[in-house]
Amino acid sequence: HNIVDKGVDNLITHPHIQEAASWINRDEPVAFPTETVYGLGANALSDKAVQKIFAAKGRPADNPLIVHISRVDKLAGIVDKVPDKARILMEKFWPGSLTLVLPCGSQVSRIVTAGLDTVAVRMPAHPVALALIEACGKPLAAPSANRSGKPSPTRAEHVWHDLAGRIVGVLDGGETGIGLESTVVDVTGEVPVLLRPGGVTKGELEAVIGPVDADPALKHSMELARSPQTFRPRSPGMKYRHYAPDGEVFLVSLAKGIQEMRRFIQDCVNRDRQQGYTVAVLTTDDGLSCYSADLVLSLGNREELQTVAQRIYDALRQVDQARMQKIYIESFPPEAVGEAIMNRLHKAAQGRMLEPRPLSNSSSTH
Ligand code: TXA
Ligand code: MG
Repeated sequence: HNIVDKGVDNLITHPHIQEAASWINRDEPVAFPTETVYGLGANALSDKAVQKIFAAKGRPADNPLIVHISRVDKLAGIVDKVPDKARILMEKFWPGSLTLVLPCGSQVSRIVTAGLDTVAVRMPAHPVALALIEACGKPLAAPSANRSGKPSPTRAEHVWHDLAGRIVGVLDGGETGIGLESTVVDVTGEVPVLLRPGGVTKGELEAVIGPVDADPALKHSMELARSPQTFRPRSPGMKYRHYAPDGEVFLVSLAKGIQEMRRFIQDCVNRDRQQGYTVAVLTTDDGLSCYSADLVLSLGNREELQTVAQRIYDALRQVDQARMQKIYIESFPPEAVGEAIMNRLHKAAQGRMLEPRPLSNSSSTH
């Protein structure tokens, strides 16, 4: 049932929220919508509950979870202290898609933090998420509610596709608004460090707290996607292959302009189809008429990158469902939310970035 369009206070007593809360209080994880992607939540103070998240997702135990709260006054015991810059960021961006890495408090399950002395915390801007946290009275440890390695879920159907039979249920809040996971910033040091780009951009952070560093692993996200072992990112999750469909994904560079990029992609599509592969192209509204392939999907409006962010994961799942063997994806300028988009696409492509060039008829470079 879609239960999104009610205020938080009304939602707390909603029978579905109450049922979900009672599962949480019995240490069973439940999936729920946030404004970014769906999460799989469990009591962050219970080892037993949190363990079930890792089991359901098939998530590596060294990848820590984000703790979700509904009010700032619930931070005691979850975090050890709140540095000034963190306080400013909370005031400005919470509730919202910003996760802060802080010194860990004593009450959080060690399984949540994967043994680190820091904990990631955020307050989601979604009435269902906030109502669930209020209704069960517990902070919720929640990763994205997908099987590990699959695209994050932006619809309840995605959650069910991945986790049916492995979790007791999902609260359906319809399609999520932002579509990419939250921005993660480590605020434990002197200069905050961006660990994962997301809906809140580096520029927006710097406008309120001054300079923010980027984790070196981010600057090398291409290389990281190619050979995860070479870089050791501070956000453990960044080293895993993520967001990837089963087919072979190629990201195509925008460096020579949009026309060149599209001409080259169509050349690749023609060659691959001649060789008997099923081929998909992910483009934007203005590119739909440029392609002939087995599946051509628009990610939205190139001039409004939020529309692209919102649709990416659904599109990656659609090419999987259609069993596409080769998937070509157009690049985006890595500015503002484009940075988060390109970060996720690099991962989906496992670092395979193609530069447009003439293809000779006989070549078969892949
Ligand atoms: O938008 C989101 O953040 C969604 C929704 C459900 O809130 N959640 C989400 O969780 O994306 P997950 O588990 O898929 O990603 C959490 C990221 C991982 O990259 C993890 O390594 C990092 O946060 N992380 C968690 N705790 C950390 C810590 N103490 N230090 C550094 N990175 C941490
Ligand atoms: Mg995830």
